Amino acid sequence: MLIFSDRFKKKIKKKINRRTVFLSPFIDNCQAVRFRPPSGCILYILWDYIMAQKLDPWKTSDIIDYSKLFEEFGISDFSDMPDRIPDAHRYMRRHLIFGHRNYEPIADAVAGHKPFAVLDGFMPSGHSHLGHKMVMDQIVWYQQHGAKVFVGIADREAYAVRGFSWEKCREIGIEEYLISLIALGLEPKDTYLYFQSKCAPVKDLAFELGTKVTFSELSAIYGFSGETHLSHMMSTATQAADILLPQLKQFGGPCPVIVPVGADQDPHIRLTRGLAAKMNMFLIEERTDPKDGKSYLSIRSKDAPEGALKEIVSGLKKEIKENGLPAAVKESKEHADVIGDPEKLRETVRSIVEKTELAHGGYAFIAPSSSYHRFMTGLQGGKMSSSKPESHIALTEDPKSAAKKVSRSKTGGRASLEEQKELGGEPDKCSVFELLMFHLSDDDDELLQIRKECLCGERVCGTCKKLAAERMEAFLTDHQKKREEARKRLSEFTIIQ
Ligand code: TRP
Ligand code: SF4
Repeated sequence: MLIFSDRFKKKIKKKINRRTVFLSPFIDNCQAVRFRPPSGCILYILWDYIMAQKLDPWKTSDIIDYSKLFEEFGISDFSDMPDRIPDAHRYMRRHLIFGHRNYEPIADAVAGHKPFAVLDGFMPSGHSHLGHKMVMDQIVWYQQHGAKVFVGIADREAYAVRGFSWEKCREIGIEEYLISLIALGLEPKDTYLYFQSKCAPVKDLAFELGTKVTFSELSAIYGFSGETHLSHMMSTATQAADILLPQLKQFGGPCPVIVPVGADQDPHIRLTRGLAAKMNMFLIEERTDPKDGKSYLSIRSKDAPEGALKEIVSGLKKEIKENGLPAAVKESKEHADVIGDPEKLRETVRSIVEKTELAHGGYAFIAPSSSYHRFMTGLQGGKMSSSKPESHIALTEDPKSAAKKVSRSKTGGRASLEEQKELGGEPDKCSVFELLMFHLSDDDDELLQIRKECLCGERVCGTCKKLAAERMEAFLTDHQKKREEARKRLSEFTIIQ
């Protein structure tokens, strides 16, 4: 392995950052070629650099290359999903949502109008800004596409990690997140809001989940050390409880749940998916018979009470007989095998196992699904951060001063007008183009046209800035008016205690 100086690595990192945006198929190829690292050797260096990346939910992650998340962490590529989803959101169409875990049941539920839920949490930190709006837009979109909605204010996490008081968490939670979320279109029907610290089902479930997590696992996932305090550790079980909350009996029992987040939250998703399996009494797995190479479903009992497996077996046999299913059940002491095509039998098996498990006081959790969106860059380049006002636009900010910020933000324009005409601009390095792509233009044709004109040198940055600034001002004016109405509607929403 070659060793490189920090200065050289910094230089390379810049190149990777440029390359990152080219991962989006929304961005056309000729631009990608122009910046693609010229030789295999450089690609190798990039790889080395990429491998040094780690996800940490409590540090604003500087994600260098999203493709690493596929290979290293097992996140799946989202690019095929938009075609499966009717009326896909612009974040999906434009590949701003780039990755997922187990999204298939969600795509099926949306397309087939089947029951599912969306859950998200907001840790009170400061003003809600355009980054939070990305999550809020998705929650509202899922509600409009048939999901039950669960939104938690992560005050336990903010107390533990940020040291915020309960009052401060409550105030920020309501003012910054819930009111803006309602103003962006959330409706009270089938919506459940809560504060982690006040939500008994979350606290009880978090405690139960705690019995399945050891310190070694937490330190492997989050890098916790002997210095990490207990409340910080407890906040991870609390977030797992958030994610599993929609599947509790009182909210309708097991169902697919989508958690739309930034990739920095993936450690929590991995922990929760593992916990969902550990909590269940039964494990359903597809296996292959080494003798004939045929696949079958195996149902394994873990901590199931006496007799539960027997009930499953007789339930399955009855179902097979009544419906003439091409299947047979082989029973052993702690497991049963269902011989037959797993694709055709999976739903029947799952629903019988689920019914039996619930009847015996179990959870029968379905592993939660997640999707991962790209982070916006700051208006001045670099990271968008709540603590740097010039880097972001808050949803409660004065619309006129926000418009000024847009006009002052970093573009991908060239040093002079002649150069711009000759070389074209660089929309993929341009925060004004990003604003349009993420928030201010819902029309793909319009956006592609702007992109094309920019690349050809026909467009000047002033035109884009004017357009984005006007739209930003109009959006914020409207949003803030809606916030006033939302404040009055808060009492229509169910708050879980
Ligand atoms: N940890 C998240 C954050 O830092 C907030 C959060 C709490 C959350 N519970 C959640 C996000 C459940 C998604 C799902 O913003
Ligand atoms: Fe960005 Fe528009 Fe300038 Fe192109 S012309 S670099 S898209 S501001």
